[in-house]
Amino acid sequence: METGDGSVALVTGAGRGIGRAIALALAERGFAVVVNDLAGPADLAQTVGLVEAAGGRVRAVHGDIADIDRHAALVDAAWSAFGPLTCLVNNAGISVAKRDDLLEVSAESFDRLMAVNLRGPFFLTKAVAARMLAEPHAGFRSIVTISSSNVEAASIERGEYCISKIGLSMMTRLFALRLAEAGIRVYEVRPGVIRTDMTAVARERYDRLFSEGLAPIRRWGEAADVGAAVATLASGAFAYSTGEVVHVDGGMLLPKL
Ligand code: NAI
Repeated sequence: METGDGSVALVTGAGRGIGRAIALALAERGFAVVVNDLAGPADLAQTVGLVEAAGGRVRAVHGDIADIDRHAALVDAAWSAFGPLTCLVNNAGISVAKRDDLLEVSAESFDRLMAVNLRGPFFLTKAVAARMLAEPHAGFRSIVTISSSNVEAASIERGEYCISKIGLSMMTRLFALRLAEAGIRVYEVRPGVIRTDMTAVARERYDRLFSEGLAPIRRWGEAADVGAAVATLASGAFAYSTGEVVHVDGGMLLPKL
C-alpha cells in the first residue's frame, strides 16, 4: 500500500540502525520523513542522503529525546518541515553502558536508561498527541514505539534496559486507549535480535545461538525487517487494531515444548 500525499512521520534515533531503516521504509511508502538523532556524528546526514537517493522527502532535526524541555521545539520543527505529522515513531534507545550483575546496577545507569528509553518517549508522545488532537486530520494517523523482546524475556545482565522497555509496552496501551476516539492508532513493535551497532558487541555469541536454534527462523533480524513492520502499521493496514504488539523476532519467543 502506498500512502498518499500528506503523510508525514517523525522517526527518532534515525541516524543509523533500525531508525534509519524505518525512515527508508516509510519514505518508500510515500511518507515525508523528519529524522531525528543526537547532534554530532554525521550519521543523520547519511540517512538524509539515503532517503533522498531513494526519491524520498526528508528533513533532519537534531535533538536529544531525553531532554524533554526541548520537545516543544522538536515538535515545532517537525511540524514546520512538511506540515502536520501523521505518524510518530519512538525508536531512539540505548542499551546498558555495561552488562553486569543485577546486584551491581547503579542508580546512574538506571536513571539514564529510564531518561532515554522511557521518560523521553513518554513525554514526546504526549507532546505529539496533544498537537495531533488540536488539529483533526482526515487521513490515517499513528504512533509506533519500538520496544524489545526484553518486554517478555528477562536478561539479568541488562535489568534496567528490560524495565525501561516493559514501560514502553504499557505506554502503548495507555495511549491506544486515550487516542482511539480521535482516530489515532498506537502500536508496539517488539524486535528480537537485530543486526545493528547496538548488538555488535555480542555478534559472535548470537551467531552461535542462532545456529543452535535460538529462533525458529534461524537468522539474525535485519533493521529492514523492523522497518517493514513499522511502515505497514503506519500505512493503515491494521486500522481496526490498536494497542497491538507486532513481534519482529523470527518467532524467538514462541512457547515451545
Ligand atoms: P543503535 O544504537 O544502532 O541506534 C540507535 C540510535 O538512536 C543511534 O543513532 C543513537 O545516536 C540514537 N539515540 C540514542 N540516544 C538518543 C537520544 N537520547 N536522542 C536521540 N537519539 C538517540 O540501536 P538500534 O539497534 O538501531 O536500536 C533502535 C531501537 O531498537 C532502540 O530503541 C533499541 O532498544 C531497540 N531494539 C534493538 C534491538 C537490536 O537487537 N538491535 C532489539 C530490540 C529493540
